[in-house]
Amino acid sequence: MSVMRKYVIAGNWKMNKNPQEATQLIEAIKPLVKEAACDVVVGVPFVDLTAALEAVKGSKIGVAAQNCHWEKSGAYTGEISADMLTSMGVGYVILGHSERRTYFGDTDVTVQKRVRAALDAGLTVILCVGEYLEQREQGVTGEVVAMQTKIALGSVSQEELSRIIIAYEPVWAIGTGRTATAQQANEVCALIRDTIASLYSWDVADNVVIQYGGSMNAGNAAELLAQPDVDGGLIGGASLTPQDFATIVEAATKAGK
Ligand code: PGA
Repeated sequence: MSVMRKYVIAGNWKMNKNPQEATQLIEAIKPLVKEAACDVVVGVPFVDLTAALEAVKGSKIGVAAQNCHWEKSGAYTGEISADMLTSMGVGYVILGHSERRTYFGDTDVTVQKRVRAALDAGLTVILCVGEYLEQREQGVTGEVVAMQTKIALGSVSQEELSRIIIAYEPVWAIGTGRTATAQQANEVCALIRDTIASLYSWDVADNVVIQYGGSMNAGNAAELLAQPDVDGGLIGGASLTPQDFATIVEAATKAGK
């Protein structure tokens, strides 16, 4: 099987922008990413999904939610199911983001359940993994990231892996302006690919898109995206500025994977 990886640049807007602002931001991004040769996705708050789906019409931009519950329906006040997302036309969901793990009690096990539900509903998953600073300093980054990846993929078949994108996001680099070096990013992305190869095979591992995330911006994107095992980016802060986000998309297009 040949390597078919294509860059995926995804914005993670987090808890920013109301529906009206979401429309404006997407309308500003649209013309700037018209020539993109990579996949472009915007991850918006739940209440912005309708506006975002409307605004991306006529473009190739995909829309992601930032979480989903693992049950199809029921007594889960405040939650949103994967089926609800697909019923709207949403194509992607970000799962296991470190902010969900840190502030909202997500664990490797609940992430695994969310991944299962999202795949069953037909979504493509952007699965986030990454170590805390203390873990990096103790030299256990590899173990932590391999464990997160293995547990999250626990019920995922080889066929379903084509709907899994992995985002390596060192927690110490998120929103801090402290980016991993290109070499650090590549090293861990390569390790994640190794882990996937050990679970499935190299044929499939070679085709999984693995993004880097954590203070990626217009200035450092080209170097990070030039790394052989970095296949895109999950971008927080810089995804809220159309020109910066477009510059990252352009860097991916130029890098040409
Ligand atoms: P950042 O966020 O680009 O603002 O560091 C990345 C993320 O949390 O996905």
